[in-house]
Amino acid sequence: MIEFFDVTKEYNNQTALRNITFSIEKGEMVFVTGTSGSGKTTLLKLIYLAEKPDKGEISVAGWETEKLKESSIPLLRRNVGIVFQDFRLLNNRNVFENVALVLRIRNMNEKDIRTKVYHSLKTVNLRHKSDSVPEALSGGEQQRVVIARAIVAEPTLLLADEPTGNLDVDTAAGIMRIFNEINAKGTTVLIATHNRELFKNTGRRVLRLDSGNLVGEEAE
Ligand SMILES: Nc1ncnc2c1ncn2[C@@H]1O[C@H](COP(=O)(O)OP(=O)(O)OP(=O)(O)O)[C@@H](O)[C@H]1O
Ligand SMILES: [Mg+2]
Repeated sequence: MIEFFDVTKEYNNQTALRNITFSIEKGEMVFVTGTSGSGKTTLLKLIYLAEKPDKGEISVAGWETEKLKESSIPLLRRNVGIVFQDFRLLNNRNVFENVALVLRIRNMNEKDIRTKVYHSLKTVNLRHKSDSVPEALSGGEQQRVVIARAIVAEPTLLLADEPTGNLDVDTAAGIMRIFNEINAKGTTVLIATHNRELFKNTGRRVLRLDSGNLVGEEAE
């Protein structure tokens, strides 16, 4: 599903990722961990093509990203659900519309949109907040809207960047259950987190970043 070969990414001569090689199979759930600034978000950005590598090769879902035309990027992104670390919710739209937007760009009919959006909001326990604007929600509630938006279109690849950063232990465990269910249905899941509790004793593979270097990929 995802392959990195000798990938280096620099920002203004500062190396964020250095000679990274790994692959993730279809259907896997994998974690990326490391301290703040180690390169987790950068790695996800390279996967969803928000950034380009300075060196190396990346392929996602069989597409060699380097050869992908600019016009094909939205096609690839359609199969990817993203939980952004900085949320990126639209404050001039309510919760329902924030989640629905993902389906509207696919020209889905209104009835199906309502069914899917309410189902997704129910999954994250936010059905009762569908008319609220994001600003009127707590940080943890906003984070759950972002998760609902990422899963509503049943993506083949789910990228989650610190998805439980604003959640208490119980709510975080609930979110991990949702990710496990989605993964069991076939979605490949990649979760970036500094929170070891999320992957401890799960048997899942953990990519460890240290100052932009991949220093391990064993489960713990
Ligand atoms: N747009 C940017 N311009 C310049 N430097 C950047 C940019 N984005 C990230 N960096 C730098 O690249 C390095 C890796 O950042 P990244 O956001 O990938 O880390 P992270 O592991 O996600 O950190 P955190 O746990 O705090 O979210 C950091 O040193 C950061 O300052
Ligand atoms: Mg980050």
